[in-house]
Amino acid sequence: DLMREALGLKELEAALKERLRVGRVVVVAGDSDRFPWVKKEMGRACVARMKERLQPGDVVAVAGGTTMAAVAEMMTPDPQLSGVLFVPARGGLGEDVENQANTICAKMAEKAAGRYRLLHVPDQLSDEAYASLVEEPAVKEVLELIQSCRMVVHGIGEAVTMAKRRRTPPSEMENIIARHAVAEAFGYYFNEQGDVVHKVKTVGIQLEHLPHVEHVIAVAGGASKAKAIRAYMKRAPHSLLVTDEGAAKALVGE
Ligand code: BG6
Repeated sequence: DLMREALGLKELEAALKERLRVGRVVVVAGDSDRFPWVKKEMGRACVARMKERLQPGDVVAVAGGTTMAAVAEMMTPDPQLSGVLFVPARGGLGEDVENQANTICAKMAEKAAGRYRLLHVPDQLSDEAYASLVEEPAVKEVLELIQSCRMVVHGIGEAVTMAKRRRTPPSEMENIIARHAVAEAFGYYFNEQGDVVHKVKTVGIQLEHLPHVEHVIAVAGGASKAKAIRAYMKRAPHSLLVTDEGAAKALVGE
């Protein structure tokens, strides 16, 4: 903590909280846009906060993305995590396998020596196929576990970057751009005011559920995500934000 004080991180956290009007933020040193190891530092900080909040037997829903992959990588076993069950937050969002919530959830559970359940729901399904799939006992059971989670951990992305990465169809891409989306989190796209302007249709955690989840942790850094973080946090002032100095400095306008 003395080290963090010397680096001015405590001050930066206080300034960021005020600027974003959010209750809790953690800022790690560095800018993950410039140095990849900074993502791992956010991962380490996130894991520490998860361990403070989790109790044996809890269900944790995790989203996808490279930042969440870093959280999984930094996970270590802990008595506090005994019997914790990891589940993906939502079904397919069009990501490549290494960025999928299922992949990250399994890796995180393995590193934590915990358990996991996966959600096998393809990305592009007709309404009818969806309706019958969610009635399948194996799918239904995992969906119920997701609904019962005590914690959600997710990344925040820049909207157009995410839409491109997911190979979003042109018509949806047009909508995302026309409606000025700047942020993305677990398949929802937000404008600068934090309003939802587009949503990927899938099962699992929906935005409306978040206020009912006891602990929500958002992990996102890099100066390039400043706008996205600001927009998304308008929507989620009660979430804990784990970020880096690059994003924090851009946000407080240094
Ligand atoms: C997605 C998550 O997989 O990754 C989103 O569903 C998140 O919640 C996005 O916005 C961020 O990705 P990255 O690679 O920038 O951490």
